[in-house]
Amino acid sequence: MNSSAYLKRSYINLKKLKFYIHTFGCQMNENDSERIGGILTQIGAQKSSCLEESNLIIINTCAVRQKSEEKLFSLLGRLARIKKRKNLIIGVAGCVAQLHKAKIFDKNSSIDFVLGPGNYADLTQIIQKHLGEKFISISCSQKWQEIPFKYTLRESNISAFVTIMEGCNNFCSYCVVPFTRGQERYRPFQNIILEIKDLALKGYKEIQLLGQNVNSYKDPDSEKNFSALLKETNNIKGIEWIRFISSHPKNFIPDIAVTMKERRKICHQLHLPLQSGSSSVLKRMNRGYTRKEYLEKIAFIRDLMPDISLSTDIIVGFPGETEKEFQKTLKILKDVRFTNIFSFRYSPRPFTTASKIEDNVPFETKKRRLIEVQELQKKLQLEKNKTFIGINMKVLCLGKSKKNPQIYSGRNEGFQVVNFKSSKNLTGKFVDVLITDCGPHSLQGAALNK
Ligand code: SAH
Ligand code: SF4
Ligand code: F3S
Repeated sequence: MNSSAYLKRSYINLKKLKFYIHTFGCQMNENDSERIGGILTQIGAQKSSCLEESNLIIINTCAVRQKSEEKLFSLLGRLARIKKRKNLIIGVAGCVAQLHKAKIFDKNSSIDFVLGPGNYADLTQIIQKHLGEKFISISCSQKWQEIPFKYTLRESNISAFVTIMEGCNNFCSYCVVPFTRGQERYRPFQNIILEIKDLALKGYKEIQLLGQNVNSYKDPDSEKNFSALLKETNNIKGIEWIRFISSHPKNFIPDIAVTMKERRKICHQLHLPLQSGSSSVLKRMNRGYTRKEYLEKIAFIRDLMPDISLSTDIIVGFPGETEKEFQKTLKILKDVRFTNIFSFRYSPRPFTTASKIEDNVPFETKKRRLIEVQELQKKLQLEKNKTFIGINMKVLCLGKSKKNPQIYSGRNEGFQVVNFKSSKNLTGKFVDVLITDCGPHSLQGAALNK
């Protein structure tokens, strides 16, 4: 330990360590931050909701798109200025950490430690021995690393994320995730069930099973697959709604849809990332399915569950995407009528095969295509949402609106946001809501519960 690091360590009273975690990226990162929070509180540190009042800042990063990565560096610029006036320990965790490894230290000298997504258990060691030193841990294990769930510091006490697998073996040509999360590792079935039972005892109503590719889940200790996990989760008393994300269309086998139909608690909601409506683009993306196969899957799912709420991810401006190929994406949006979509401009990412071909769709074209996708989807969503007006639906109330104490907010089974009036505080309860109005992104109504 060098002397300046020593000074820093003694300046910060370990018992008064106040941490703040800033999270970018997907639900798995959110769950990881909750687990990091658990590890830190277990050592005696206190969570703070104010960055300025904290002396340990952890940035949990996302590398999926160039823009996601840039967010880290703008936040680091701000933190470096704070660090000039006060003692501050800064750690970079998550996917950018894994991607750039020790090079991140060169990009910003105020960083103290770098932790890859598979190394959060090392936090104990950093806090106890290396606080304030330059420290890096980015080894990506080939096996599942269990972090005790008992201490997880969850953001919600109604709906909980439960990670069931990590990593991805698909290597879609545009995607950096296999290089940040490593190869697929599956969490032991029994550990998942134990965590969900614990959540049920704590009063959680909803579980969201997480993984980069949940459909490929298999228990490392038995033959049990994702459908078996869904069935077992469905048996846990107290848990009422079960969701999962993300599903890869090529691994979404009929058995999963049948399980969703047959087991009462599995929400009729599915996020099935499409990426493009053009088979030639899908081939260049290495997605492993054609437009026709995707549509056949949707038809099969809808046949079983006519009320299924579908969402998807779309990338516009993938290298070589012609106007004709792009039109196929617009067409499929009109054909499928998703409840919601997440749409992005393609950006080249390190190590990916697509980054080795020219990013030849001009920025202005990508921008225009993204606007077209979003404008069309907005219109389709508004049309769909209007069909819910006058209908009663079950909503899991997640809390009060910050602006109006008489307005509550929650999600319906289809994972749509529902804002509703109620004279009683119904947070954490399932509420019957009569839908009276809507916008493209949410439904509005009034609680019917007495
Ligand atoms: N495992 C998930 C995807 C996680 S990444 C899945 O396959 O479903 C979330 C989304 O980011 C992807 O579905 C894709 O739409 C988008 N994305 C990934 N890499 C991208 C890139 N290089 N440029 C633009 N969008 C990208
Ligand atoms: Fe990325 Fe494809 Fe894996 Fe999803 S399935 S994480 S898009 S490589
Ligand atoms: Fe981002 Fe990593 Fe999730 S790259 S989307 S935080 S898996």
